[in-house]
Amino acid sequence: MNDVNPSLLRLTASDIGDVDTLAREVWQATYPPLISQAQIDAMLADRYSPARIGEQLADPRHAWWGARQGDSLLGFAHAMQETQSICKLDKLYVHPAHQRRGIGAALLKEIEAWAHQRQMGRLKLQVNRGNAQAIRAYEKYGFQVIASYVFDIGQGFVMDDHVMERML
Ligand SMILES: CC(C)(COP(=O)(O)OP(=O)(O)OC[C@H]1O[C@@H](n2cnc3c(N)ncnc32)[C@H](O)[C@@H]1OP(=O)(O)O)[C@@H](O)C(=O)NCCC(=O)NCCS
Repeated sequence: MNDVNPSLLRLTASDIGDVDTLAREVWQATYPPLISQAQIDAMLADRYSPARIGEQLADPRHAWWGARQGDSLLGFAHAMQETQSICKLDKLYVHPAHQRRGIGAALLKEIEAWAHQRQMGRLKLQVNRGNAQAIRAYEKYGFQVIASYVFDIGQGFVMDDHVMERML
């Protein structure tokens, strides 16, 4: 993992502020070519509100992990049990300065182990069709595109996504 050797930990309520800060940094480095600033702001406010993350941290169908080096959060992942057999990888984000060092792969391994323990047999995710870097990463992790849809998420916004899956 090059010069970084972060610890992988389940996140708790005390990490919510760091998740919010890192999410804003990664989203601003990733999404401006793909979606409008208004959509970025609306999705960050919705998906990363302390109340929403707090509820997920208290819900056994959800799990959050972080990659920490000292005090710094370098990456995070969030997965949820969508059905008895399907685990949805809902978020996988690594700080731009620490990408391509295996942190995303290491976070994914934690998700796989969690899903496996709960007898889920498939991992599923959605990724913006224009997010070539993430699509390459997911292909490298063994995912395949199984469908592509435009999802209406309200407020006049859409997500133009691939749905990708792999067996566990
Ligand atoms: C996608 C992401 C989570 C992968 O995590 P990571 O720690 O960077 O990835 P890994 O080190 O495990 O590498 C996996 C593959 O990702 C791809 N990748 C990651 N960073 C890349 C970069 N800067 N440029 C090109 N490819 C890159 C490569 O294919 C890499 O494999 P390789 O190095 O053998 O070619 C991370 O790049 C990221 O946070 N991207 C921005 C946010 C995002 O789009 N998240 C996904 C939302 S659905």
